[in-house]
Amino acid sequence: MTDDSKYTCQTVTHVHTWVPDKLFSVRVTRDDAYAFLPGQFARVGLPEADAPGGDPTLWRAYSMVSAPHEPWLEFYSIVVPEGLFSPRMARLQPGDSLYVEKAPYGFLTLERFAPGGDLWLLASGTGLSAYLSILRDPAAWRAYRRIILVHGVRTAAELAYREEIESWRRQPGLAELFATDPQKLIYLPIATREPLPGMPQERLTTLIADGRLEQLAGQSLDPEHAKVMLCGNPAMLADARKLLGERGFKPGRRGIPGNLAVENYW
Ligand SMILES: Cc1cc2nc3c(=O)[nH]c(=O)nc-3n(C[C@H](O)[C@H](O)[C@H](O)COP(=O)(O)OP(=O)(O)OC[C@H]3O[C@@H](n4cnc5c(N)ncnc54)[C@H](O)[C@@H]3O)c2cc1C
Ligand SMILES: NC(=O)c1ccc[n+]([C@@H]2O[C@H](COP(=O)([O-])OP(=O)(O)OC[C@H]3O[C@@H](n4cnc5c(N)ncnc54)[C@H](OP(=O)(O)O)[C@@H]3O)[C@@H](O)[C@H]2O)c1
Repeated sequence: MTDDSKYTCQTVTHVHTWVPDKLFSVRVTRDDAYAFLPGQFARVGLPEADAPGGDPTLWRAYSMVSAPHEPWLEFYSIVVPEGLFSPRMARLQPGDSLYVEKAPYGFLTLERFAPGGDLWLLASGTGLSAYLSILRDPAAWRAYRRIILVHGVRTAAELAYREEIESWRRQPGLAELFATDPQKLIYLPIATREPLPGMPQERLTTLIADGRLEQLAGQSLDPEHAKVMLCGNPAMLADARKLLGERGFKPGRRGIPGNLAVENYW
């Protein structure tokens, strides 16, 4: 690898399994020169399976879970059993190499919105990744009145990072904000394939359409005051975009900030 190469070689330091054979996260070292905005994604690479010491040839996009101030990079991933990349990424161990393109990518960032109002972060599955980076960064907490984080998954076990999310209200720096407004963060975990206590067993799009998402949040999803991010499954994004478009939510254009930002994962 030469200095003018497009990527750097990083070393895996931690691997965490959330759901065996389905969900895991990986932490790797971070190049000093690698800078990004919360919500952006990296292109990460691996060599061919039969040439583990060779140059990386397989590349995939992964949202950063880690915040820009954290000295490592963290990624949260699905295992697609028939996929070329994710099963191999799931087998990485501390000490192994993971390649990272030098440039970060993506526009699912708070720069898309004017500050103020409520920030709604709607994810299906691993779409949560980008929001963790955004919420690990203190700036988001200051820029919006309230943050409503909705995580739609198939089963309760897939509510990854739930403990971390629920611990933010006690975290120094954030606890003060929760003392002023206990509803600063409204976290709504939604499961579709098993019941979760106190929560409807429905897709988040159904809950948008019938008004129950607003009831659960205790906030109105109104384009005057709300900014919405959508991330994850493209079918969920398409359905949610349609519902939100009918309510008057629009992406920004030519430097004019909007109130809707989306990122497809496949
Ligand atoms: C901008 C961007 C950011 C992304 N960030 C993440 C991330 O943070 N975490 C992550 O796990 N993936 C993320 N992905 C998807 C990731 O790039 C890979 O597609 C995924 O890891 C599977 O790789 P694969 O080679 O095993 O299968 P692929 O051949 O890439 O995908 C095969 C099929 O698997 C399904 N699939 C792919 N990704 C997912 C997923 N995340 N959840 C459920 N089903 C999926 C789709 O049906 C897809 O057609 C992102 C994709 C994009 C475009
Ligand atoms: N046993 C397994 O299931 C298993 C094991 C290992 C790996 N995998 C891999 O995991 C992938 C699925 O990952 P995942 O469960 O994180 O993602 P997902 O299929 O996108 O499901 C995540 C959540 O999004 C919801 N959803 C899907 N389409 C929607 C739409 N159009 N509108 C609103 N909500 C929608 C799902 O609801 P619904 O439940 O109603 O669809 C679910 O609650 C599979 O493709 C497979 O490759 C699966």
